[in-house]
Amino acid sequence: MSDEGERVLDDELCVAACERCPALVDSRSRIVNGVGPVDADLLFVGEGPGATEDERGEPFVGRSGDVLDEALRDAGLARSDVRITNCVRCRPPENRDPSAEELANCRGYLDAEIDRLDPELVVTLGKVPSEHLLDRSVGITGESGEVVDARIAGTPRRVLLSVHPAATLYDRSQREGFFETIARAAELAGVTEGSDGQSRLGEF
Ligand code: URA
Repeated sequence: MSDEGERVLDDELCVAACERCPALVDSRSRIVNGVGPVDADLLFVGEGPGATEDERGEPFVGRSGDVLDEALRDAGLARSDVRITNCVRCRPPENRDPSAEELANCRGYLDAEIDRLDPELVVTLGKVPSEHLLDRSVGITGESGEVVDARIAGTPRRVLLSVHPAATLYDRSQREGFFETIARAAELAGVTEGSDGQSRLGEF
């Protein structure tokens, strides 16, 4: 990552100050950093903070977060067992998708977080993080549940694609598939309750 003075990584993975994206600096109340253990086996990557996340300073704490928490509980996991972050750390205005430039501006923070965690599995929540990390177009409804190998910041990673939890709110029929994908994530990373802690990724 560049060491421009305006961008500061505080407390290793927390961005304390950043002014790279003028529109996001105007729309945000605060920078929303990732949460969860820095040695988590499972890393969930969303798109960017919404209104509730911007208000509370934590990723996935609004309605989408409720769905994610429920799916994690169903899979035998607590939210505190996993790390949750976003492609961009500041709320885009009117909840629009982050622009290519905004995604690129924030990429160094995400790469640093992935490198530091070195997770067993990265789970992309929705089309935006899937396309951003795989660097290709993704038909997320069709590809959700698939595990792919990807090179992220030069390192080979296993990535499980998922629809965004908000999709289950717009379209109830996506709920079962989303819950299955989260359960699969826990199983693949070897972090289900009562598991032996052994990752099963080698089998896939
Ligand atoms: N949607 C996201 O992609 N990220 C959040 O943190 C909340 C909603």
